[in-house]
Amino acid sequence: MLTLGIETSCDETALALVRDGRLLGQTLATQVPLHALFGGVVPEIASREHYRILGSLFDRLMAEQGLRPQDLDAVAVARGPGLLGSLLTGLGFAKGLVLGTGALLVGVDHLKAHLLAAGLEQELLFPALGLLVSGGHTQLYRLDAPTRFRRLGRTLDDAAGEALDKSARLMGLPYPGGRFVDALARAGTVDPNLFPRPYLDNQNLDFSFSGLKTAVSLAMQQRRHLVLPPEMFATLQASPDLGALCAENPRLGELADLCASLNHSIVDTLRVKVERALGRERDIRALLVAGGVAANSMLRQAMAALAQRHGLRLSLPSAALCTDNAAMVAYAGECHLRAGLCHGLDLDAIPRGQRVPEDFLPLTRACAETSNPCQATALGIPCPDFTG
Ligand code: KG4
Ligand code: ZN
Repeated sequence: MLTLGIETSCDETALALVRDGRLLGQTLATQVPLHALFGGVVPEIASREHYRILGSLFDRLMAEQGLRPQDLDAVAVARGPGLLGSLLTGLGFAKGLVLGTGALLVGVDHLKAHLLAAGLEQELLFPALGLLVSGGHTQLYRLDAPTRFRRLGRTLDDAAGEALDKSARLMGLPYPGGRFVDALARAGTVDPNLFPRPYLDNQNLDFSFSGLKTAVSLAMQQRRHLVLPPEMFATLQASPDLGALCAENPRLGELADLCASLNHSIVDTLRVKVERALGRERDIRALLVAGGVAANSMLRQAMAALAQRHGLRLSLPSAALCTDNAAMVAYAGECHLRAGLCHGLDLDAIPRGQRVPEDFLPLTRACAETSNPCQATALGIPCPDFTG
């Protein structure tokens, strides 16, 4: 099965081709420099930029692989949660392709795609506990199969990535700040008492990171001299060894210590809730950690140690598959198609803050409605209605 993945839910325009669970090629156009001018994603600009660039990215990706649109068996598109205008550009493009080629359409939950991303690199084991940590979401799931998810916990306010990005902004770090906090933290020393580990004094599996920003804001008010001057951005971005840079520059060293303590407070909060979830879901065999913040080195180390303590297989996508990408969308789309699930042309976009419905069509019905009633069988998917 050859599947095109389309990801336009926020500020990355990404396309990928996956054949039978293996990545053939992908392309990604980031809008980060555009939005950095405003210190955050501007939805109107994001959708216009997706709309402008999708067609040429598609042509280039197909040409690189020596493929034609008619070769596609399926188009998997991130249908939410995300910025509505941005999602609609991806959905419109997907529907146009499906109409033009007869490929199957499947709408993918962006969050579930993150959690399945490691499946492109290794076999996933179930039942699994999934920790999703991105810029917009911090959630815990139980997964019994690639298409069977049960949400156990979520953030009540800011996501972990949002807390990192907002804190980074208070420190004067470039946008989006998560990876700069990570890089500086590696050169710093943790003070475990500097920042609180928020919202642990309860029995639930939810998160709340908004208070952390206030704690960072107070800490920075007392240390105004540490705010990174913009003329240091280029040095920070270009330096291969922040340890040496911090040793030369004591102010940067102090900022690195703050970053290490902030990173620790977020990572340790996540660790406590993951261990609490494992205490309740006793048959878990694997831990999946996904989303942009899963690229964080301290989090990766903490989750590796945790998995080892609990005898779990750890599935962590490589860094490029942690942040938004279309390979995970194509892969998740294939998982759903293999389970006999797809969508029709009435597929809708789901904005941020809303849960993505499981409104799939059985693949066989979708086949019966197209001119090719044995498409499922052609893809190697059992089709009970196929009599040919
Ligand atoms: O999953 P993602 O690419 O987009 C969303 O769906 O939100 O996640 C983006 C988030 C941002 O908050 C960014 O700062 C954070 O992931 N991030 C990191 C790192 N790389 C990206 N946070 C901590 N450490 C990193 N290395
Ligand atoms: Zn994401």
